[in-house]
Amino acid sequence: MIETKPIDGKAFAANLRARIAEQVADLVRTRGVTPGLAVVLVGEDPASQVYVRNKAAQTLEAGMASFEHKLPADTAEADLLALVARLNADPAVNGILVQLPLPGHIDSTKVLAAIEPAKDVDGFHVVNAGRLAVGLDALVPCTPLGCVMLLKHHLGNLSGLKAVVVGRSNIVGKPAAQLLLKEDCTVTIAHSRTRDLPGECRQADILVAAVGRPEMVRGDWIKPGATVIDVGINRVPKEDGKTRLVGDVAYGEAQGIAGLITPVPGGVGPMTIACLLQNTLTATRRQNGL
Ligand code: GUN
Repeated sequence: MIETKPIDGKAFAANLRARIAEQVADLVRTRGVTPGLAVVLVGEDPASQVYVRNKAAQTLEAGMASFEHKLPADTAEADLLALVARLNADPAVNGILVQLPLPGHIDSTKVLAAIEPAKDVDGFHVVNAGRLAVGLDALVPCTPLGCVMLLKHHLGNLSGLKAVVVGRSNIVGKPAAQLLLKEDCTVTIAHSRTRDLPGECRQADILVAAVGRPEMVRGDWIKPGATVIDVGINRVPKEDGKTRLVGDVAYGEAQGIAGLITPVPGGVGPMTIACLLQNTLTATRRQNGL
């Protein structure tokens, strides 16, 4: 029987934020530069409101400037684009994040394309996606960046390992695959149309689940001893009428099979904001020629 160890993303993220705060303090002291992050929230999606509040608090804690722009749900696309243009031109703003999802009447592709790539701390702009794909310096999407940091910390060299990424979103699946390829993994991207999905997953030394379906990946899909990275954050009802968070992996079933696994909550989740702060610091340095 394998002893399955949880990966403590919460502790890793806290440590990363502390290291970022030191580097921010150094930047302020030696260069007089304070990194600034602007977050734009359109509408009142409750999950987005929580994220944005946490982002602002952790930005300030890291010693950075936080600029919050909360716009009503009926904001016209042109007005949002005008705000993005103002933030692009504002020298106090080094990073811009437009919280997704946007209301249905706004074309999110158009909005993401309007963000200056050098300030695109989400790494969603096609220029950054393209730079990542061809191996140039890029701002990389925060969640997959956090996944790969956790993997490198726990496994060391990833070279030659077989990685299966379940999910092909632009936010997680595709960039996660690119980052794992950069680490010399042999990478498969699997998805809802994959034939024999359990069989594909069973090949994986590293299994990344990013599908947004509660507990879809079962215990017997996992190769004994594999490292499992669960990106899912799904709210499911409990018997008492309340809700609980579960990942995309059946966590209980993975016990005794996986070697390492990220729990939900407390695994990948806390890494996302820490990596956002890392990207904001990186963007600030590059904008200042450092
Ligand atoms: N909504 C959920 N996750 C994210 C994220 O990482 N960035 C943005 N902009 N919106 C999100």
